[in-house]
Amino acid sequence: MSMYDRVTSALGERPEGISHSEMRKRQHDFCSEMATGAVAIITNNPVSIRSRDTHHRHRFNSYLHYLTGWHGEDGVAAFYHNGDNWMCRLYVQPRDIEKETWTGRRPGLEGALANWPVDETVSRDDLRENLSQLLDNVEDIYHIKSLDGEVDEIVELALHEEPKDPRPILDELRVVKSAGEIALMQYSADLAAHAHVEAMRQCEVGMGEWHMQSVIEGCFLYHQSEWAYPSIVGSGDNATILHYNENTDVMKDGELVLIDAGCEVDGYASDITRTFPANGKFTEAQRAIYELVLKAQLAGIDACQAGSPWSAMHHATSHVLAQGLIDLGILDCSFEEALGEDYNGLYRQFFMHGTGHFLGLDVHDVGGGRQGDNKPERVLSPGMVLTIEPGLYFGAWREDVEIDSKWAGIGVRIEDDVLITESGPVVLTAKCPKEITEIEALVGSK
Ligand code: GLY
Ligand code: MN
Ligand code: MN
Repeated sequence: MSMYDRVTSALGERPEGISHSEMRKRQHDFCSEMATGAVAIITNNPVSIRSRDTHHRHRFNSYLHYLTGWHGEDGVAAFYHNGDNWMCRLYVQPRDIEKETWTGRRPGLEGALANWPVDETVSRDDLRENLSQLLDNVEDIYHIKSLDGEVDEIVELALHEEPKDPRPILDELRVVKSAGEIALMQYSADLAAHAHVEAMRQCEVGMGEWHMQSVIEGCFLYHQSEWAYPSIVGSGDNATILHYNENTDVMKDGELVLIDAGCEVDGYASDITRTFPANGKFTEAQRAIYELVLKAQLAGIDACQAGSPWSAMHHATSHVLAQGLIDLGILDCSFEEALGEDYNGLYRQFFMHGTGHFLGLDVHDVGGGRQGDNKPERVLSPGMVLTIEPGLYFGAWREDVEIDSKWAGIGVRIEDDVLITESGPVVLTAKCPKEITEIEALVGSK
């Protein structure tokens, strides 16, 4: 059986996308938070050049997709009040056989009206005139600047002051996931989990980091998905560079390999990190660090309880890591010094990032900044999805901190996606093994 078929048979049915009625409810909940005379404009992400006349693959704007499901490069939505009702007007490119012959089919005005949850469609060619009319004498304009230059200009001319930001309203809606969203996120988590399993299975000393990337991203693509962020495959010292994604080194005997890769399903991201020995057997030092990170991660997951502040999981992982670094003799100080007053003590030399982030239509989803930054502190509630991803990094290349040769070159991160429920945390990525015995049995077992 090919690895792709193995993943297919392990996956359940792909869930239906978000229904039009759910998107209508989102529109209603969003508009209800605005004054009756307001107009909100939600633009798309810009197209960006990759090379001369070749573009980077376009990714829809998450807010636009959340409200309308629109996924094309064009598309600007305007919400306004008409009589007793809020209306959703979508500006789209009109049909044009000559242009479509080159750049692909367009739904056009009729197709967009028939197949998307919107009330009316207007040609993007008429945007300037039509939107200017809609904004005439409107005082409350909601608009996210700097995505669509033409809309920025129209709003500036209409308003002569800063528009209101719709994101605080939308973020509160997006941070709690519906049953339909959770089903998509579970599928996204399952696909990423099985892709990681295949990478571990295929791994051999002497293969390239890029080979692991191709296994993982091949599994995504084969299942009509794509990466949610550039895949990180770091072996040896590369595992200690947090955003390493060159993936150009050969994996050597005795090295750990850290893979941080996740996919997108109907826009919903998964985000998984696993760390394993390239030769399938942890050394004593690698095992000690791995066990400590795993213990911290399990404590972090346990702290993901409805009603708790979302920084509770960061505090839980930090306590375990600070004490563990002392126990291993890596830090020679008191627990208070290791942890620090504001969780910024000596343990941060080896754990530089936050323990997690919200997850959804964006991999670093709306709903929380860096842990501790958002005041008042967000409280976890059922339907929220977060990552829990503690790590320890002992880069041999670092000059800012002394690292005993026993630990040099070890980088470990373990990352899962967790759904908050009334009855405790549910690990959406549970199909990706993380116990040492499971990993040692899996690596190289193809
Ligand atoms: N892969 C990005 C992150 O873990 O936050
Ligand atoms: Mn993450
Ligand atoms: Mn990640």
